Amino acid sequence: MKEIKNNLFPIFNDILQREDKEILLQQNAKVIWMTGLSGSGKTTIAKGVERYLYSKGILNQLLDGDNIRVGISNNLTFSPDDRTENIRRISEVSKLFMNCGVVTLNCFVSPTIKIRNIAKKIIGAENFIEIYINASVATCEGRDVKGLYQKARKGEITDFTGISAPFEAPENPEIEINTSKLSIDESVQKVLNYILPIIKNK
Ligand code: ADX
Repeated sequence: MKEIKNNLFPIFNDILQREDKEILLQQNAKVIWMTGLSGSGKTTIAKGVERYLYSKGILNQLLDGDNIRVGISNNLTFSPDDRTENIRRISEVSKLFMNCGVVTLNCFVSPTIKIRNIAKKIIGAENFIEIYINASVATCEGRDVKGLYQKARKGEITDFTGISAPFEAPENPEIEINTSKLSIDESVQKVLNYILPIIKNK
């Protein structure tokens, strides 16, 4: 394994790379991209994964509507163009984290194959782990944690994914998790089983 560079006055062409940061953190950076309907369980699962990774010393950053749509994307709506711009920004932010050696756990509806392909292209296919958090509209609507489905049904919210805007399931996700069948703990475990061998330092 390479060692941490410790020369204090490096020559200018010896710029620190992602690999150097990964050595420092003893982990491999990846973007874990969770897609699924609102209320499917993306953020809930990611929070469990986040906590476990933290307990194992793996530095990670959870990105979701709560920290992206209120900040860097707070001027965007849910129109197709604005969703595309939202995903572009998120992908660029994720890339910055990744180049700093940090694993990101991304929880975004990212409703179309096209939009997720944009993310994959920016992040790089080799760095992009796609997870489909699968729960039907009926299941998510039954949960309706934020009351948004009810508003969408009444027409108080437009362009609502699953009701008045499309959702295209991924064709070949690395993992698919059906949250109407698996518990939160089982779902977290399934994600960890797949990602740990990849992000743990060899
Ligand atoms: S994305 O389509 O651009 O990827 P994003 O994941 O950022 O969407 O935001 C989705 C979250 O915003 C949902 O979980 C929900 O809480 C909220 N939301 C508000 N309006 C809508 C809408 N019209 N469609 C989908 N989600 C909405």
